[in-house]
Amino acid sequence: MSVNYAGILWNRQKRIYDIILAIFVVAYIGLYVGFTATFNPELTAETMIIRATATLALLLLHIILSIGPLSRLNKRFLPLLYNRRHLGVTMFLVALVHGIFSILQFHSLGNKNPLLSLLTSNGSYDSLVRFPFQVLGFIALIIFFLMAATSHDFWLKNLSPKVWKALHMMVYVAYGLIIMHVMLGVVQLESSPFLYGGLMFGMVTIIALHFASSVLSGRGLDLKSDGYYYACNLEDIQDDCAKVLTLNGENIAIFKYDGKLSAINNVCKHQNGPLGEGKVIDGCVTCPWHGYQYEPHNGTSPPPFTEKVSTYELKLEGERVFVNPAPKPEGTTIAPVTIES
Ligand code: HEM
Ligand code: HEM
Ligand code: FES
Repeated sequence: MSVNYAGILWNRQKRIYDIILAIFVVAYIGLYVGFTATFNPELTAETMIIRATATLALLLLHIILSIGPLSRLNKRFLPLLYNRRHLGVTMFLVALVHGIFSILQFHSLGNKNPLLSLLTSNGSYDSLVRFPFQVLGFIALIIFFLMAATSHDFWLKNLSPKVWKALHMMVYVAYGLIIMHVMLGVVQLESSPFLYGGLMFGMVTIIALHFASSVLSGRGLDLKSDGYYYACNLEDIQDDCAKVLTLNGENIAIFKYDGKLSAINNVCKHQNGPLGEGKVIDGCVTCPWHGYQYEPHNGTSPPPFTEKVSTYELKLEGERVFVNPAPKPEGTTIAPVTIES
């Protein structure tokens, strides 16, 4: 079941983010072209556009891939998570301009179809130094296109959650292809060493963030004799938000709301969205992806909806929160733990 986000406060913020994003895109391209025209005036306008859009798309891709782990590490980044898909579409459009200009510049002057020329003009697949790096960029662009195209509501409904999620995870394959596209391109075109350094820095940052967010969400777990594990301290959970942790393969979200604690499975029944990154709105856990809702004490969507997720038993000892990772059958009511004030 879903809430209508039109009534929820971050919609105004979404518009503000979109405006900031648009200003950023225009300012980046303007500054890049301005600097290059000043310090490297021998470059053609096409080359400047190709490089400005290329580096901007690369930067946006890094930001997109950082938002997930950053918001798992710190709730302050959550507004960015809600806005990530707009970044995705923007990144695709910027990369598309780069791809189109590259094809026009390098493949449209001969008598071959430009796309055929892109795919066949360089067959040196056995050479690292001459590898057809543009083909890698092209495959990545197709993946970004599929992601952008299938995220339309029609596909969200008609592709199964597994297929849709798998498609979105392809962003990591596309990222790998882009790394290769740039690294092999840099070698062949002797582009700026800054680009190479920036790429290395970006890659290390992405890997470190993903690593940190997965390690820290399972930190400090003490098994107690009665099957309960230490999860976190009360102060680690903000009001109407959750602490997420993985225990014995169970992905659990512990919510604090109305002076109570409840734990439900972190995986939304709609498209496997991360419920623990959502908020309690009108008494219901609200999925950050498309707004499906679940009551925290029984993991059940309010009537007339029928989705159910597993629930988990909690204990509070002083300030310390403990969870039993054995899942109760989906929709099982568990009395919330009351926080004594
Ligand atoms: C080239 C385009 C895109 C890229 C690179 C991209 C990238 C990503 C990535 C990395 C994730 C995280 C997956 C996860 O951690 O589970 C994600 C999630 C998501 N994407 Fe995209 N995306 C793109 C286009 C779109 C579009 C056009 C839409 C919808 C209009 C969309 C909707 C979503 C949704 C709903 C999620 C789940 C979480 C969220 O709302 O941020 N994406 N995307
Ligand atoms: C049809 C798809 C694509 C084609 C034909 C293509 C082609 C090219 C070409 C010819 C260059 C060398 C340009 C030069 O430095 O003069 C280049 C560089 C680059 N490409 Fe692509 N590309 C494609 C897709 C992509 C995508 C999807 C991304 C990223 C999201 C990307 C990122 C880059 C970057 C960062 C550079 C280095 C720019 C620089 O040297 O400053 N490319 N690409
Ligand atoms: S509402 Fe779509 S994944 Fe949760």
